[in-house]
Amino acid sequence: MIVPASPDSIRQAGDALRAGRLVAFPTETVYGLGADATSNSAVAAIFDAKRRPSFNPLIIHVTSIEAARELVAFDPLSDQLAARFWPGALTLVLPRRKDSPVSLLASAGLETIAIRVPAHETARAIIEAAGVPVAAPSANASGSVSPTRAEHVAQSLGDAVEIIVDAGPCPVGVESTVVSCKGATAIVLRPGGITVEELRTVAATVEVATGSTDAPASPGMLESHYAPAAALRLDAASMDAGEALLSFGDRSLPGGAEELNLSPRGDLREAAANLFAFLRELDSRHDRIAVVPIPPEGLGLAINDRLSRAAAPR
Ligand code: TXA
Ligand code: MG
Repeated sequence: MIVPASPDSIRQAGDALRAGRLVAFPTETVYGLGADATSNSAVAAIFDAKRRPSFNPLIIHVTSIEAARELVAFDPLSDQLAARFWPGALTLVLPRRKDSPVSLLASAGLETIAIRVPAHETARAIIEAAGVPVAAPSANASGSVSPTRAEHVAQSLGDAVEIIVDAGPCPVGVESTVVSCKGATAIVLRPGGITVEELRTVAATVEVATGSTDAPASPGMLESHYAPAAALRLDAASMDAGEALLSFGDRSLPGGAEELNLSPRGDLREAAANLFAFLRELDSRHDRIAVVPIPPEGLGLAINDRLSRAAAPR
């Protein structure tokens, strides 16, 4: 349902987010599909609604650099870029703090988190009302263009999102610039609202990565994959000696050194919510992990995509 931005709808949106539900809201760049970034299951609902066949890491939205410091560790250049361009259309990729409450699914299992402080007053009010960091990809179904009006969100996502807060067209209209810093170099992972020229006013060197993270030239381009140290064996029908098992529903196998079930009741959204946390747990205790077949439907497509990347030879 599209509701105009007002103190009432902003409070409702904040309540819905805190309760683990999805809210679409305007930012200065594009409309975002928001969820409580500290909740694996709320974040799983985003991937479900977007019908993404893979789990891309999402941008985490907070309202101040102080709030960002509670989630990620800043290097000197990132600090300067934030001071100059926040609030605004800049996303910084920074190391996750050990005590960061951000969902592992939101960062697709990575040790880094993409974070930004939006400038749009409605976005800021909703994040404040929620009282939690908000994970928000662009509010469109996978494969379609990013929405810059509330009606675009309704057309693309339909009933999958309960509340769409409308504050008119987005002023910037393209997504934020995603930047990762290495020493004195700012690396543009995705071009966007803040230009390379603008970045040059702060960073000594600016490089534009070949093959953006949104459309990598080949899957290998995207370095941002979580890969376990343990060897992963997919579609297991029986256990080899010494293997730990990642199971699903009633697809258990006897003889494993340890078993974690992604969703005993066979719910793919619950399985997505548990995926990275469970992989990490088994990875910390075992050298080899067997995984039962995961149904290739709904969120199962994204789960299988990540599992096959994690199992790929390196
Ligand atoms: O303007 C925007 O950035 C909008 C509004 C809603 O804020 N959000 C947006 O999110 O465009 P999304 O999920 O559609 O795009 C996120 C981008 C992708 O290119 C993703 O690969 C990159 O950020 N990204 C997220 N986390 C990352 C990480 N840890 N390392 C590298 N890239 C990351
Ligand atoms: Mg997008």
